[in-house]
Amino acid sequence: MQAPLEPVRWEDDHLRILDQRELPERLLYIRARDVETVADAIRTLAVRGAPAIGIAAAYGVLVGALAGRAIRVADSVRGGATGSGGSNPAAGAREAARAAADQLQTTRPTAVNLFYGLNRMRAVLAREQGSEAELLTALRAEADAVLDEDLKTGEAIAAAGFALFPDQDEVHVLTHCNAGGLATGGWGTALAPIYAAHRAGRKVHVFADETRPLLQGSRLTAWELKQAGVDVTVLVDGAAATLLTRGRVDLVIVGADRVAANGDTANKIGTLGVALAAREAKVPFYVAAPLSTFDFSLPGGDHIPIEQRAAEEVLGTRGAPGAAAFNPAFDVTPARFIHGWITEKGVLPPPFDEARSSR
Ligand code: MRU
Repeated sequence: MQAPLEPVRWEDDHLRILDQRELPERLLYIRARDVETVADAIRTLAVRGAPAIGIAAAYGVLVGALAGRAIRVADSVRGGATGSGGSNPAAGAREAARAAADQLQTTRPTAVNLFYGLNRMRAVLAREQGSEAELLTALRAEADAVLDEDLKTGEAIAAAGFALFPDQDEVHVLTHCNAGGLATGGWGTALAPIYAAHRAGRKVHVFADETRPLLQGSRLTAWELKQAGVDVTVLVDGAAATLLTRGRVDLVIVGADRVAANGDTANKIGTLGVALAAREAKVPFYVAAPLSTFDFSLPGGDHIPIEQRAAEEVLGTRGAPGAAAFNPAFDVTPARFIHGWITEKGVLPPPFDEARSSR
């Protein structure tokens, strides 16, 4: 089945990125033909959500290799220097692609999918020793594979998560931030089971936390759910605890940016508060994430690098002049608050032994 959303797709000679900064008002696309455009799109959250960042970065390496070739061709037409790689086009393409990977690596620190996507492309650069054309073909194939695997993963997470839904007339799910089609290749993680339930004719009502300061919940989650015909109520982040403790929520499903080996999970700032309230209210709290979001090299959540973002994002909305801002983009929910990790291999508990060996 065709995924409903296409946040990142390759088109002819460029990367097409749905500009999520413009949603829900406008459906605009960025056409990236140089690495800086891809890096800027990731840094400024035009493309965001862990799996989508990984996919964009993988294609970004191809963008870098192609941009390097364009510069070399232009140089040789002018009869001047042959650019990076000298007279060896394959070496030049490899060098440009490596530089692209190095640049993209600095865009955002928390979502491990960024590094997962880049490492897949670096492995191709190390392996593929043929001509420039062969290298470009191999880079394209690998980036396509990262995207295709994410789409398949989304379908598997949908099925595994839907199986957790209680058997009742209407199911109420609370989510935080956006872990939907927009945040992935197109199916989503936390929202994927909701779409599966909706397609199966079940009544589902989603409570979407607004998700300050960048409003991924009210702008993006609510938008894509409405596009799919799913009922959604937006609430300010501070209202989640009230809703949970009043018994209005059957289960919580959130996404993840990085899951440590012991199950501690980094996700959008505010997730920890939801987990604490869900525990108090005895509402099951699940994390939905592909195995590409697991970082088995980190023993626990305190090793996960947390992105700190600009004060302006917090204070820009009527903050008093001179006030300081605390603006971590993510928090870490300890594994003990999480009922299960919904992955493409089913609902897993730490230490994820089976998942580790299959990766
Ligand atoms: O800063 P963002 O919008 O990239 O943060 C996104 C999240 O925290 C998502 O919940 C997470 O990446 C999972 S996306 C499937």
